[in-house]
Amino acid sequence: MNTLKYKRPKGTRDIIPEEFELREVLLEKIKKSIRAYGYKFIITPTFEHTELFIRSIGDSTDIVEKEMYTFHDKKGRSYTLRPEGTAPVIRAFLENSIMPPAKLAYIMNMFRAERPQKGRYREFWQVGVEAIGIKDPLIDAEVIEMGYSILKELGAEKLVVLINSIGSIEERQAYKSALLDYLNEKEQDGTLELCNDCKRRKNRNPLRILDCKIDGPKLKDAPKLKEFLSNESLKYFEEIKSYLDKWKVNYREEPRLVRGLDYYNHTAFEIVSEKIGVEDTLLGGGRYDSLVEDLGGPATPAVGWALGLERIINYFYQIPRISGPFYFVATVNEFSKGYAIGLLKKIREWKIPSDMTYEPKSLKAQMKIADRLNAVKAVIVGEDEIKLQKVRVRDLETGKEVLVPEKDLVKIYEEEMARRKGKEVL
Ligand code: HAM
Repeated sequence: MNTLKYKRPKGTRDIIPEEFELREVLLEKIKKSIRAYGYKFIITPTFEHTELFIRSIGDSTDIVEKEMYTFHDKKGRSYTLRPEGTAPVIRAFLENSIMPPAKLAYIMNMFRAERPQKGRYREFWQVGVEAIGIKDPLIDAEVIEMGYSILKELGAEKLVVLINSIGSIEERQAYKSALLDYLNEKEQDGTLELCNDCKRRKNRNPLRILDCKIDGPKLKDAPKLKEFLSNESLKYFEEIKSYLDKWKVNYREEPRLVRGLDYYNHTAFEIVSEKIGVEDTLLGGGRYDSLVEDLGGPATPAVGWALGLERIINYFYQIPRISGPFYFVATVNEFSKGYAIGLLKKIREWKIPSDMTYEPKSLKAQMKIADRLNAVKAVIVGEDEIKLQKVRVRDLETGKEVLVPEKDLVKIYEEEMARRKGKEVL
């Protein structure tokens, strides 16, 4: 083959038919579960005014500083491909005057110019939920439990919810200055050397240093965020945990978890699998009580999460071999071809995946193609069969043949599908 002239952009993926079918099955399961918790699905535009993301995610976050795909239109307006779904969903909630309490969910592709690696792409798909207008530990716990159950149902193993309370804005502000004092002191006496990223973060977003993979572990004796939380905040957090205990959700308090988006307050959580390591978070979320107001709406509390679809597929699934058409209609000559075309049309009206060769070919050549397409059964139409008003159905795995009336094709299909159900992903 000649070298390819064009390749897909770095960090993007082609979803080929095998993976497409797997995704359909997974997404059907996910949608069913999410609807069972009372959520309704929504789709927002692929791009938004850049300002929306700066305002919500925060201008000192990695996403806004380095990862947004921003472009200008001919009139000089700045747009950004959505790097996440929460801000657009809240914008849509306000713009469409959706009344709280509202439970909104989405399945949308996101764009972040990150360094690509396994499970980290520049275009990826998130499934997310946002419970808007409710402030009670019960909803935080329910949202977490829902994410945990969905991941479990999808076959993710050894799940742990990492959970933290990052308090109110005021509590976090007080903590921030204590942390800064600590960092400055340690740097001055030469007992702490921050990585380049954290040197930059220190002045813009010092809390992020806590969950830096390099510097976070060096801060074991730094002041603890929890010590700065009010009794009210602590009580809220304790109540969430007591629900999680009751529902047997496997969680672990993670005092250094702060999350990479600025809109969070109080509850912050991530779900990881100890099977694949805690670095590749499967799901992340938290409470964000000021975002609706920040985007111009009335004070409205909210909580939600998003999971990365590719992470689930990469770590817990093998891309299956998919079946080709169920029926491959083969003909013996031009006369039977005319009949076969009518039959194929009927089979398709019954919504049974089916195909033929189109170009004139010998029966042997047609059967070879049926095989290559991984068809399940061949329907052979010859003059004898037409005279008998029947069709010959050959099982392409066993080679067994039966002579049946046309209408039995539906029964054969349904029986085979019922036989396969539960045994295969597809
Ligand atoms: P996030 O932690 O940035 O949160 O992303 C959520 C999930 O998206 C991650 O746990 C991961 O599974 C997946 N993900 C993130 N970046 C990538 C990537 N480059 N490639 C593949 N998967 C990725 C949010 O986006 C928040 N909007 C979640 C939220 C909803 N908070 C409240 N409501």
